[in-house]
Amino acid sequence: MNKIIEIQNLVKQFNGVNAVNGLSFSVEKGEFFGLLGPNGAGKTTTIRMLYGYSPPTSGMLRVFGMDISTDSRKIKSRIGVCQQDNTLDPDLSVEQNLLVFAGYFSIPKKEAVERSEELLDFFALSHKKDAKVMELSGGMVRRLILARSLINRPELLILDEPTTGLDPQSRHQVWEKLGELKKSGLTVVITTHYMEEATQLCDRLVIVDHGNILVDGSPERLIEQYAGRHIVEIEGPDQDLIEYLKNHDVEYDDLGKRLILYDPERKGMNSAIRSQYCNEKCIYRNSTLEDVFLRLTGRELRE
Ligand SMILES: Nc1ncnc2c1ncn2[C@@H]1O[C@H](COP(=O)(O)OP(=O)(O)O)[C@@H](O)[C@H]1O
Ligand SMILES: [Mg+2]
Repeated sequence: MNKIIEIQNLVKQFNGVNAVNGLSFSVEKGEFFGLLGPNGAGKTTTIRMLYGYSPPTSGMLRVFGMDISTDSRKIKSRIGVCQQDNTLDPDLSVEQNLLVFAGYFSIPKKEAVERSEELLDFFALSHKKDAKVMELSGGMVRRLILARSLINRPELLILDEPTTGLDPQSRHQVWEKLGELKKSGLTVVITTHYMEEATQLCDRLVIVDHGNILVDGSPERLIEQYAGRHIVEIEGPDQDLIEYLKNHDVEYDDLGKRLILYDPERKGMNSAIRSQYCNEKCIYRNSTLEDVFLRLTGRELRE
């Protein structure tokens, strides 16, 4: 076992309140690890501690086997970070953004130019090399931030919502590139609100809420365990159906105007429900990570 990240009982307090409330998890070399959770769950706070931006209040945090409180410089030199916000310099060109960043890692100029050419090519940005950041589309900005995070050839890449706000085409392009990086064996920690993204990319993930881990596992296993294989959604459900579900011990969520039935097949109830209770507004579909997420973290808005 080759642990890249080890976290135990990690706590971060702001004004006496625990934003991160005793997290424990580890990430193995080569793993693509997801940190999911509703707004305010503590994802960014956790990630900021990971890359040495903000010190833990208490707990253990080791990266590459080193303690973040004593070896943060060494750790930082081996990490790539894409923060949640756009931190590019708007006054510099695309290439200059990469070269200036390379300077922070004391990468010699010639080497920096070579690496930036390689990265611009990989992220399909070569034609924008001399453009100002202001002239880039949202997708290009994201790709440039990713390119920049790789300039020091990191062993661990940390991504805080790398595709939030992107159009579907740009998002899929980023996924493709992240998929290639994953194949190359890079260890990645990602936060995202896109469950499809997490399902496609992550080997393993945790869902956190209020600074605590709710569940930990592969996307497939979490879906199987918390939502079953299939979902039946029935609109405008009647009392009869609810009685029936209770009597037959089928798990469901009552959303008022809609019932979500989790894996009625598990109880052998699928065909009975479909023939007796399905009206024209009945949906039968595969379960997704989004079902798991909503089931575990609830449906109330977090703003
Ligand atoms: N610098 C800060 N000062 C005070 N409170 C903060 C600070 N950063 C985050 N918080 C609070 O910590 C909690 C977790 O925030 P955050 O880690 O940004 O959540 P997430 O990234 O999961 O949306 C929130 O309640 C947030 O308001
Ligand atoms: Mg965040």
